[in-house]
Amino acid sequence: MSKLYINGRWSASETGREFNSYNPANGSLLDSVADGNREDTANAIHAAEEAFKKWSVVPAIQRSDYLMACYDSMIKNQDLLAEMITREQGKPLKEAINEVGYAASFFRWYAEEARRIYGETLPSNAADKRIVISRQPVGVVAAITPWNFPLAMITRKIAPALAAGCTVVVKPAEQTPLNAVTLFKVLEECNLPPGVINLITTSQPRDVGEELLHNPAVKKITFTGSTDVGKYLTKEASNQMKRVSMELGGHAPFIVFDDADIEDAVNGVIASKFRNAGQTCVCANRIYVQESIMDEFISLFAEKVNAFSVGEGFKSEVDIGPLIDKDAIQKSKNHIEDALNKGAKLITGGKQINGEGNFFEPTILLDVAEDMYICQEETFGPVAPILTFKTENEVIERANNVPYGLAAYFYTNDYSRSIRVSEKLEYGIIGLNDAIPAVAQAPFGGMKESGVGREGGKEGLLDFLETKYISMKFKNECEQ
Ligand code: SIN
Repeated sequence: MSKLYINGRWSASETGREFNSYNPANGSLLDSVADGNREDTANAIHAAEEAFKKWSVVPAIQRSDYLMACYDSMIKNQDLLAEMITREQGKPLKEAINEVGYAASFFRWYAEEARRIYGETLPSNAADKRIVISRQPVGVVAAITPWNFPLAMITRKIAPALAAGCTVVVKPAEQTPLNAVTLFKVLEECNLPPGVINLITTSQPRDVGEELLHNPAVKKITFTGSTDVGKYLTKEASNQMKRVSMELGGHAPFIVFDDADIEDAVNGVIASKFRNAGQTCVCANRIYVQESIMDEFISLFAEKVNAFSVGEGFKSEVDIGPLIDKDAIQKSKNHIEDALNKGAKLITGGKQINGEGNFFEPTILLDVAEDMYICQEETFGPVAPILTFKTENEVIERANNVPYGLAAYFYTNDYSRSIRVSEKLEYGIIGLNDAIPAVAQAPFGGMKESGVGREGGKEGLLDFLETKYISMKFKNECEQ
C-alpha cells in the first residue's frame, strides 16, 4: 500500500482506510493507496506551518540548490516516473517521457528564479523617509491537482511555491494518486526539510478540501481543474481572504486561415487535439477552417487521423491511449450524439472501441455549429469538431463568444493578420502557428471563466509572494 507523506514521513491514514488505483488501459488493479481524511489533512497543514517558520528564511541560494536537486532527481528517475504515468493515467510512453521533462523543467526554471526575488526602493516625499518594497512568501499553500498531467500540474505549483519560500500540502486527483506518490519518493532523495512538502492522497476530495479551505493556517489555494469546482473554491476561500490561483476549463478555438500552410495547420490541429487523447484544458475544441480551403484541409486531416494507432500506451506504435474512465467515454459519446442529431456529419471514428479499457476512436465531425454541446463545453476526449467561416471579423467574433478564455490558436502566413488576430482574441495563451505553446518560462493561465492568476514564468512566482511596503522615517542629520 502507498502511504501519505506528512512531515517527512510516510504514514497510513488516521482511519487506516485505503482506496484502489486502476490502469485505464485494462482496468487492472495497480495498488492500494492511503485514503487521507480531514484529520490527516490538518496534520499535514500543521507540519507545513511549522516548516514554514524555517523554510521561509532559508537563503534564496540554498532554496535554489534544493530545487536544482529536485530537477536532477526527476531527470535521473525519468523512466520510473514516465512508466507510472502511462500505467495509471494511460498516455503513450513517448508522451509520458515528454511530461516528465516538462514537469522537471519547472524545478530548473524556478531554481534560477528563486535567486531573483527582487524588491524596490522608491523616491519618498520627505528627506527623512525611505520607501522600501519587499516580497515575502504567502505562507502555507494548498495545491489541488488534476489527473491529466499527473506530474507536471504538481511541479508547476510546488516549484514556484518552494522558490518563494512557501511550504505545501498537495492533494492529487483520486484517479492518479500513485503518480504523486512516485514523484514524492523521487523528491525525497533531495532531502528537503520535513514538512516543506506534504502529500494527502484521498478518495474523499470534499472532506480534504474542506480542511484546506477552512484551516486558517492555509494562506493560498492553487487549483487546476473544472470551472465549477474553481468557482466553489474561490467563493469558500474568500471567507478567510485566502489567495487563489485558478487554472480552470477552456474551450479553445483553432482557426485556420486560407493563407496558412495547410499541412502545418493539420499537424498543429493533430498535436493540439489528440495530445493526451484530447484530455487537456488547452486542446482545440472548435476548429474553424476558412471555407475556400475546407476540402483540402479535411482530406489531409482525415487521412492522418485514420492512420492513428489507438491502444495501450506501452506499445511503441501507439499514438492515442485510453481515456481516464467510463465517464470520460460517456461524455465523448454524448457530444457526438448531440452533434449528429443537430446536423453534423461523421467523417471518421465516433465509437468506443470494444474490449477491455477505456479506448475511443479518434473522431472527426464536420458541419458543426455553435448550438451543439460540443461547442459549449469541453469534450476532454479525442473528438475534433470542424466549423467553417468566411471572414476574419466573423471568426474572431465567434471564437470569442464563449465564457472561457484559456488558449486560442490560429494559423496564417499574413503578417498584419497575425498582429490583428492575436490582439483581438480574448484568451490568455495564443498559439500563432504553434499548437503546443506551454513552457516553464511563460505565464500559463486564462481570462474570463478560465481562471485567475498565472502559472509558470515570473508571474507564476509573484502569485506566491506578498508585497510589503516599508516606510522608514529616520533622523537624517547626524548629531555630533
Ligand atoms: C492542461 O491542459 O491542463 C495543461 C496543459 C499544458 O500545460 O500544456
